[in-house]
Amino acid sequence: MDALVVEDLIKRYGRTTAVDGLSFTVPQGSVCGFLGPNGAGKTTTLRVLFGLSRPTSGAARATGSVGGVLDRDGFHPARSVWNELSLAAARAGKPTADIDKALVAANLEHAATKTVGACSHGTRRRLSLAAALIAEPDVLLLDEPASGLDPHALRALRERLQRHAGNGGTVLLSSHVLEDVAATCDRVVVVNQGKRVAEGDLQTLLAQRIRLRSPEPDKLLTALRGFETTQEAGAVIVTGADADAVGRAVRGVILHEMSTQGALEALYVGLTEAS
Ligand SMILES: Nc1ncnc2c1ncn2[C@@H]1O[C@H](COP(=O)(O)OP(=O)(O)O)[C@@H](O)[C@H]1O
Ligand SMILES: [Mg+2]
Repeated sequence: MDALVVEDLIKRYGRTTAVDGLSFTVPQGSVCGFLGPNGAGKTTTLRVLFGLSRPTSGAARATGSVGGVLDRDGFHPARSVWNELSLAAARAGKPTADIDKALVAANLEHAATKTVGACSHGTRRRLSLAAALIAEPDVLLLDEPASGLDPHALRALRERLQRHAGNGGTVLLSSHVLEDVAATCDRVVVVNQGKRVAEGDLQTLLAQRIRLRSPEPDKLLTALRGFETTQEAGAVIVTGADADAVGRAVRGVILHEMSTQGALEALYVGLTEAS
C-alpha cells in the first residue's frame, strides 16, 4: 500500500514554478529519501503534503496521521524544551522514557531546560523533530532533519526512523546530503528543478553503477565485454547493469573489489547536472 502519493503536482509562486509536474509514491513501511539540490522543490512538496500550501494543480496526499518538522511549530516561548516534550508525550500517551530518547535523537540533551523563546532557530527545529518522534504519526515528513545534528544524534535518529518504518510507519525525509540518505533510507526520490529525475529502491538504483578492481585488468575487461564500462583510477565502472549479471560475467577473474561505492553520488550528480 502507498502511504504517500504525489500526482502531477504543480506549485507556482507568481512566475516561479517551484514544483513542475511531480509524481511519486512512497510505500508504507519505507524510509524514503527526498533528494535534490537547493531550490529543487523539496520543501514546497512537503508543505503541500502537510496541507500548509495549496497545489496550483495536481495532488499530494498521505494515508493516516501525519506529522513532522514544520516551519510553523506552535511551541510556547515561555515553556521549556522539556515541558514542550512532556506535553507532546502526554498528548500521544507516551511514557517519560520516550522524551529522553527523543532528546538524544534530536541532539537536545543540553537544551532540555532552555525556554523555547531562548532557543535558536536550529534548536527550535530540533525541538520540532523531537516532538514528532514522540508523537510517532503514521507518516513522518521531515525537511532536512539531519542538518545541525552531530554523528551521535544522526545515528540515534537513523535507528528511530528505521524502527518506525519497521513498525509499519512511513518516513519521507528531504536532504541535499547524500550520505544521510544512503545510510538511512531504503528508497529515494531524486528531484531537480521541480521534476522527478529518479525514483526507486535504493539498492536497485545503487546497483546500476558497479565498481570493480582486479589485478588482472585485461581479463576483467574481456569478461565485461558487452557491458557498458568506463575506467577510473584503477577501477572499472559498469553502468546500467544488474549486479547479479555482472557477478556472473566476472566469475573466474580475481577481484579486489566489487562495490557500489560512489554510486549514489554519481547518480545524483549525473541526474541533477544533466537538466
Ligand atoms: N513562498 C515562496 N514564494 C516564492 N517562491 C518560492 C516560495 N517558496 C519556494 N519558492 C521558490 O520555489 C523554488 C523551490 O523552493 P523549495 O521548495 O524551497 O526548494 P528546496 O526545498 O528543494 O530547496 C525555489 O526557486 C524557491 O525560491
Ligand atoms: Mg528546502
